[in-house]
Amino acid sequence: MSQTVLVTGASSGIGQATAQLLAERGHRVFGTTRKPGAAQASGFTMVGLDVRSDDSVRGCVDQVLSQAGRLDVLVNNAGYTLMGAAEETSVAEAKAQFETNFFGVVRMVNAVLPVMRKAGAGKIVNIGSLAGITAIPFGGFYTASKFAIEGYSEALWHELRPLGISVSVIEPGFVHTAIGDATQVAESTLQAYDPVRTRATSALGRQVKGGIPPEAVAKTVLRAIESRTPSLRYRVGTDAAWFPRLKQVMPWPLFAVGVRRTFDV
Ligand SMILES: NC(=O)c1ccc[n+]([C@@H]2O[C@H](COP(=O)([O-])OP(=O)(O)OC[C@H]3O[C@@H](n4cnc5c(N)ncnc54)[C@H](OP(=O)(O)O)[C@@H]3O)[C@@H](O)[C@H]2O)c1
Repeated sequence: MSQTVLVTGASSGIGQATAQLLAERGHRVFGTTRKPGAAQASGFTMVGLDVRSDDSVRGCVDQVLSQAGRLDVLVNNAGYTLMGAAEETSVAEAKAQFETNFFGVVRMVNAVLPVMRKAGAGKIVNIGSLAGITAIPFGGFYTASKFAIEGYSEALWHELRPLGISVSVIEPGFVHTAIGDATQVAESTLQAYDPVRTRATSALGRQVKGGIPPEAVAKTVLRAIESRTPSLRYRVGTDAAWFPRLKQVMPWPLFAVGVRRTFDV
């Protein structure tokens, strides 16, 4: 059955691939961007949204409701990476990371829940990350924002289950998108971290380049929203399937060697 879906951050990467695939599958899709004039939307309606703003979130949800008259699925995908050693990152930069990656999700969920509760149905799909299970060195606050998504989504799952609303977290490993182009880097740098930060940042870029296509994540989102009983967690990619299992069973020093190799630190 066709569902009305809102996908945040649909101007590129995972969000764009998801919006396109769901539209191809016959769902009524609204995607979002902060620059509606500039972004391409094929098969879906593009709406302006900045998840950092309460007014923008309200305006976006109102627009979808006035055009479609309903909202069945919310896919929280908008996000960016902040790189830099934890010590180099200012509290303002760390807060900004959370404002988009975590509180952006919270704002969207709070905006759609009254509609979903009234309908006694709905699906919330949060794009988490393998970084919500195992850390990216020099991406401490990105990692923290994705760990936060995990805990929040799990609590929400319990709270919304009796109301007929499902919550899922999609946990992709590295995905080949242009996420690196929008990466923010901590402004103040400390010389002590220079060589290793440079290596870690380049390694992350290489890993993303060698990652799975965003369409693979889109297919998983489709599977979640077309399921009668969506799972809480979906892992996408070989790395996302294996790293969490290895982290559980391997002694930490051994697992850490693998992480250090992955990020060249
Ligand atoms: N690429 C990976 O390896 C990977 C792996 C795991 C998880 N993820 C997660 O997947 C999601 C999408 O990442 P991607 O790789 O597809 O990156 P991307 O191509 O850079 O897409 C990011 C999207 O987020 C939107 N966005 C950023 N800040 C926003 C804000 N304040 N308000 C509204 N929209 C905003 C951007 O839209 P506009 O700039 O047009 O507004 C863009 O459409 C992120 O949550 C990311 O953490 C990525």
